[in-house]
Amino acid sequence: MTEKTYRVIQWATGTVGSAALKHFIENPVLELVGVYVTNPDKVGKDAGDLVGLPKTGVLATGDVDAILAMDADCVLFAPSMMTPPIDMVCRLLASGKNVISPAGPFLPNKWFPEETARVEAACAAGGTSFHGCGIHPGFAGDILPLTLARLMNRVDCIEVSEVIDKVRNPMIYTEIMGFGMDPDELLANPRRSPETYKAFYSSMAMIAEGLGKEIEKVTVRLEVSRALKDIKHLYGEVKAGTVGGQHYEWTAWCEGAPLIVYHFYWQLGEDLDPLWEQGEARYRVRIAGDPPLECNLLGGQDSDGRNPFLGLPWTGLVGATAVPAICDAPPGVVSHIDLGVVQPRGLVRRQGSSELALMPWSVHG
Ligand SMILES: NC(=O)c1ccc[n+]([C@@H]2O[C@H](COP(=O)([O-])OP(=O)(O)OC[C@H]3O[C@@H](n4cnc5c(N)ncnc54)[C@H](OP(=O)(O)O)[C@@H]3O)[C@@H](O)[C@H]2O)c1
Repeated sequence: MTEKTYRVIQWATGTVGSAALKHFIENPVLELVGVYVTNPDKVGKDAGDLVGLPKTGVLATGDVDAILAMDADCVLFAPSMMTPPIDMVCRLLASGKNVISPAGPFLPNKWFPEETARVEAACAAGGTSFHGCGIHPGFAGDILPLTLARLMNRVDCIEVSEVIDKVRNPMIYTEIMGFGMDPDELLANPRRSPETYKAFYSSMAMIAEGLGKEIEKVTVRLEVSRALKDIKHLYGEVKAGTVGGQHYEWTAWCEGAPLIVYHFYWQLGEDLDPLWEQGEARYRVRIAGDPPLECNLLGGQDSDGRNPFLGLPWTGLVGATAVPAICDAPPGVVSHIDLGVVQPRGLVRRQGSSELALMPWSVHG
C-alpha cells in the first residue's frame, strides 16, 4: 500500500524546531521541502547537517519570500518566543500552507478574539488549517487529562503539574524568570505575568468543553521558595536567601468550585525552603473523584539512570506527528477536539532485526 505523503517546511531550528526537523527528515510519509532559519551561520546549510543527519539536499534559507513561494502542504512554525508571530502565521496560511504552531498565536480563545478572527480569515483565504499545540499548552494540560477522564466514574477536580528542576534541566530563561531575585520583590512583580494563564486558557476550556461544562473564572497565585545556600546552575548562580523556586497556580472554577488547577513547580535543586517537589522533571495529572487517578509523564530512563525533561522535543514532535491530520482537515482553526484521535503516520520504522531471542512466537492470522 502506498501511503499518502505530505510536503513540509520547518520554520526555525531551535530546540523545538530541531526535534521536528529531525522527524521530518526521518519520517517517510513526510517530505522536507524547506527550512527557514534566522541565524546567518545556518543559512545555506543542508537540513541534515543542522540536526546531525545525512545530507538531504534541502538547504536552509533566511528568505521569507522564498518560503512563502514554496509548494508545501504544511509549516511547523517554531520561532523564538520573543517574536509576536501572528502576521507571519497569517501570511503562511494565506499562501496556501497549513500551519502547526507551538509558538502562538495562542490557541484561539475568548481572550484573543482579534487574533482568532485574523487566523480564521487567513485560513479562508488560503483554504488552509491552523493548529496550535505543544507539550503545555497543547498536550499535558488538555488532551492528556481529557483522555484520562475516560477512566473515571466521577470527576471532582483535575490537577496538572509541570515539575522542573532547573539545575538538572538547565534553561536559558532562568534569570529572566526571576530566579535569584529578592522574594518579596518577585512576589510584587511576578516575571510570569498574572495574565499569562490566558494563553493556556484554551487548554482549560478544552477540558471543560470535553466534559460538557464551562469555566466561570480563573484565579491565579504565586508562591516562592528561598535558596538555603548559594546554588550554581548552567547559566549563573543564585545566592542564599533569594528566589530558588517558584510555584504558579491557576485555578479554573466551574459551578462554584475548582475544576481544573494548573501548577508550575520550577525549582533550582532541592536546597530550598519550602521544597514542594522532589525527583525527576515531569508532567503529572491527578484527577480527584471516583476512582482517583494519577498519571506521570516523563522521559524514558537514560543510560545514567535519569529521566530527562523532554518537554521541548515533545513540543516539536506533538506538532510534527499531527501534520497528516491537519493537512487533511477542513479549512479553519482546528482544535484537539475537532481532530479526535490523531493517527500519526510513518512512526513505525524498523531499524534492523531485534536481538532479543526469547521463545518461538505462535503465529495467528
Ligand atoms: N506550547 C508549548 O508547550 C511550548 C513549549 C516549549 C516552547 N514553545 C514555543 O516554541 C517556540 C520555540 O521554542 P524553542 O525552545 O525551540 O526556542 P529557541 O530554542 O529559543 O529557538 C527558537 C528559534 O527561533 C529562531 N529565532 C531566533 N531569534 C528570533 C527572532 N528574533 N525572531 C524569530 N525567530 C527567531 C532561531 O531559529 P534558527 O536557529 O533556525 O535561526 C531560534 O533557534 C517558542 O516560541 C516557544 O515559546 C511552546
